[in-house]
Amino acid sequence: MNRTVTLDEFIIQRQKDFPYASGELTGLLRDIGVAAKIVNREVNKAGLVNILGVSGAENKTGDTVQKLDIFANDKLIDCLKNSGECCGIASEENETFIPIPSIESKNAKYVVVFDPLDGSSNIDVNVSVGTIFGIYRRKSDSKGECQLEDFLQKGTELVAAGYVIYGTSTILVYSTGRGVNGFTLDPSIGEFCLSHRDIKIPDRGNYYSVNQGYYLKFDIEMRRYIDYCSDLNLRLRYIGSMVSDIHRILLQGGIFLYPNTRKYPLGKLRLIYECNPLGFIVEQAGGKAITCQLERILELEPKELHQRATIAIGSPAMVDEMKAFVERYSVPSVTNNGVS
Ligand code: AHG
Ligand code: MN
Ligand code: MN
Repeated sequence: MNRTVTLDEFIIQRQKDFPYASGELTGLLRDIGVAAKIVNREVNKAGLVNILGVSGAENKTGDTVQKLDIFANDKLIDCLKNSGECCGIASEENETFIPIPSIESKNAKYVVVFDPLDGSSNIDVNVSVGTIFGIYRRKSDSKGECQLEDFLQKGTELVAAGYVIYGTSTILVYSTGRGVNGFTLDPSIGEFCLSHRDIKIPDRGNYYSVNQGYYLKFDIEMRRYIDYCSDLNLRLRYIGSMVSDIHRILLQGGIFLYPNTRKYPLGKLRLIYECNPLGFIVEQAGGKAITCQLERILELEPKELHQRATIAIGSPAMVDEMKAFVERYSVPSVTNNGVS
């Protein structure tokens, strides 16, 4: 029987694939693994301690903040600040980015972006939630503090990205641009162990994930595509945590959609914290990620930290089909200048 490979061992083995790697990225990924274990511990006992429920605040993008959102955010920030491998952090829960002084970060060359808890409305009812992260190499001069430009990079510039799903078991999935691997937390030894080697997304699958409750608020081409999925007898699954929905799709095939609605004309999900890291993972596994206006997610130019995007992501053949529906059925919108 093959011996179990832990996340730390795997990350170190992979460092050898990068001939000039100095170990900084390795250290950063390991520190994110430690933060994931701490968050996992709190998620698991959330019902036992006074950590369920809303905190009474709203975050920058107007979402209700759960207490566990704050806990997860604080833990990730603490771990990254102490890591010494990261010079700045941007989180869905913070209005602006957080520079880490060079005395602590030792002029580190990476910045980290994350959604500390994805699907937080699921916490109180014991349904899966997740953490999403992305790592970029800084663009600004490494002698000074990190700058906004370090975070406003396209998804194509990601050095690594991943997610953790706190579900029936806790799984960490990450990629450094050479395939995707998944690790399941073995609680008996407190280690993430390699369980899903070189994940490849199926070309198509039996699942579609969309908030069908908003059906009447979607554009006509999206409604046509959703009708098509339903006609095909695809199975609708919508967990309310895109990490969980996309994890299913990554392993079993399918498509996840969050189109524009009247309430969210630009889409709801955040480009930097959610769409780009998950787009990177799905593309690395052989899938596709585009907006509902058909641009490749990873090529979008971020203009602000909390920018939103529409998304269609998953099995390549299914994303292509969605694209064909948009091309066929979309109605040109009329603007002040005429038809756009
Ligand atoms: P978050 O908990 O980080 O705010 O993210 C929730 C996101 C996403 O994970 C999920 O798919 C979507 O919001 C659900 O939104 P709706 O309730 O509008 O469908
Ligand atoms: Mn989220
Ligand atoms: Mn969140």
